[in-house]
Amino acid sequence: MNLAELTTFRVGGPADTVTEAPTRGALAEFCAAHPLQAGGPRPDVLFVAGGSNLLIGDAGFSGPVCLIRSTGVQMHEVTPDERLLTVEAGENWDAFVADTLARGLTGLEALSGIPGTVGATPVQNVGAYGAEVAESIESVLVFDRMSGDELRLDRTDLEFGYRTSRLKRTAANTGAVQFVVLAVTFRLGVSRLSAPVRYTQLARALEVDLGEQVDTREVREAVLALRASKGMVLDDADHDTWSAGSFFTNPILPADAALPAEAPVYPVTDPVTGARDPRLVKTSAAWLIDRAGFGRGFGLGERSTLSQKHTLALTNRGDARAADILELARHIRAGVREAYGITLEPEPNLIGCSLDA
Ligand code: EPU
Repeated sequence: MNLAELTTFRVGGPADTVTEAPTRGALAEFCAAHPLQAGGPRPDVLFVAGGSNLLIGDAGFSGPVCLIRSTGVQMHEVTPDERLLTVEAGENWDAFVADTLARGLTGLEALSGIPGTVGATPVQNVGAYGAEVAESIESVLVFDRMSGDELRLDRTDLEFGYRTSRLKRTAANTGAVQFVVLAVTFRLGVSRLSAPVRYTQLARALEVDLGEQVDTREVREAVLALRASKGMVLDDADHDTWSAGSFFTNPILPADAALPAEAPVYPVTDPVTGARDPRLVKTSAAWLIDRAGFGRGFGLGERSTLSQKHTLALTNRGDARAADILELARHIRAGVREAYGITLEPEPNLIGCSLDA
């Protein structure tokens, strides 16, 4: 099988052994049959679900590949005002978000239109338009490939940060996935009123002030329109969406770091408590890229360019190979480093390839 077919970048070489896991049980069985052992290649096994945060090298992957295709949502009442929903890892994220709104639940509306699956969202604490999944996650059921046990990790065990969590850090440390997400439990409010609007662009689109609440379905529509205007809603016919969304994370810097006066600066907050860290600030990778001379549509060749709609998305114009995307990523990273002394970090998982090679 060609792995390019499984990713939104549509690049990546072949895989020999691909196993589909259509249920939680099948996924746990695959994990049990492939324990994480000392030594050996890293990563040893490749898990693919939505394929929207993956850049796979042109040589493909020689180890076993598991396709996470488990589905199902179970809802429990906790109090008259709250519901717990346990969702299988392979459920489509946006279909789940739409389903929560249809059930009259609030909390996930600003996270509309994000590609990929539910199980991937806690790993990098997916966020957009002022919300992060960490705020709504009660716990995550994982398979620990080191011990062979199923574990339930709650919000504090998960150690969420901006685009990170214990799940992601452990994978980075071991060079392979140790905790495989089997299911995620969300705690959502019973209401048609959205969470307070926290993102300026979104408030503007809704014509409300920051902090106001509106119908959850209006937030969803506004977010879908904003995302589409940035090429961040998958569309086969639009090469601006043949990407992994933001290719770099927004840099977090010491609060006194030297930045141009016009650079966007955002506070860094704890995803769970909302407490601000006064020692740190976050700036905009898209802005740094733009101002370093790489405008929308910039490319070294024709096969891979920045999106025409947003400088933070590297895209495949139709016949790119991973090598083309990596070459562009390295060029942009070097240009931003030269202009601003900041080294951008890639956001997608790089499999069988690296920006340093
Ligand atoms: N900007 C430019 N040029 C552009 C686009 C943006 O200079 O072509 C500058 C502008 O100053 C703009 C700023 O960048 O105000 C921020 O842009 P935007 O609001 O689009 O947000 P972002 O920081 O680029 C982040 C997330 C997105 C998420 C949006 C909305 C990261 C790495 N990315 O992007 O998440 O949808 O905010 O909340 O945090 C993703 O992670 O894949 C993703 C798409």
